Amino acid sequence: MKNTVRTFQMAKEEGRKISMLTAYDYSTAKLMDEAGIDAILVGDSLGNTMLGYEDTVSVTMEDMIHHGAAVARGTSKTMVVIDMPFMSYQTNEYDALVNAGRLMKEGRAGAVKLEGGQSVCPQIKAITSAGIPVMAHLGLTPQSINAFGGNRVQGKSEEAARKIIEDAMAVQEAGAFAVVLECIPAKLATLITEKLAIPTIGIGAGNGCDGQVLVYQDMLGMFSDYIPKFAKKFADVGTVMKNAFADYIKEVSEGTYPAEEHTFKIDDDVLGKLY
Ligand code: KIV
Repeated sequence: MKNTVRTFQMAKEEGRKISMLTAYDYSTAKLMDEAGIDAILVGDSLGNTMLGYEDTVSVTMEDMIHHGAAVARGTSKTMVVIDMPFMSYQTNEYDALVNAGRLMKEGRAGAVKLEGGQSVCPQIKAITSAGIPVMAHLGLTPQSINAFGGNRVQGKSEEAARKIIEDAMAVQEAGAFAVVLECIPAKLATLITEKLAIPTIGIGAGNGCDGQVLVYQDMLGMFSDYIPKFAKKFADVGTVMKNAFADYIKEVSEGTYPAEEHTFKIDDDVLGKLY
């Protein structure tokens, strides 16, 4: 059975932590699904990790559908959440609903994620009223990087912390089934987690949240443009890949690859007729 919003809510109620990672392609999604991850986020971080942009601002609906559908094809149990890209929902409720619908129909998402608090509550209401589950995202919201002036921890002052708490209550009230808390102090994230009935998913928000999400290239040491403080390297796959690429280059240049066992044969009498 596929994980759903119910899996998230039951995990919170039973005190079971929710595991979530980003993925952007079929084969990575399949490995995560086989490993038993609860949910995959097709994040608009694909703008950085897959497309090489310096931020997520240029990511399009077509990018999200293309990568989202590939991830969905690679999963059987894992829930797939697809990010709504910059300006696909901020404009108005109509755009938000149409674009969320496309991520469900064409991307085969189980839910969509969007960034923002009170200001996007009308959009959350419109999308959830159409039967589409919405995950909210507060704290350091990368689509607003230009307004923040960089990747800074959010919610450190009383005023800023209060605003995040109010936003969290507002998105829950608007119908969000979960909320990502990014780059906020751990004790603030714990307080929000205690106040909310819906699960919180932390990234750089300490271990008091109901679940955690990481960008998979960060946890595998595959992305070196920017390494956030909270990103634990669970394996150094980046180095393994670089070494394998170097070995391949060496064997090709020395003529030792392909070897006998990688080679197809033809009968000598057939070959003889070709000369
Ligand atoms: O796009 C993304 O990968 C995200 C996570 C950082 C939560 O939004």
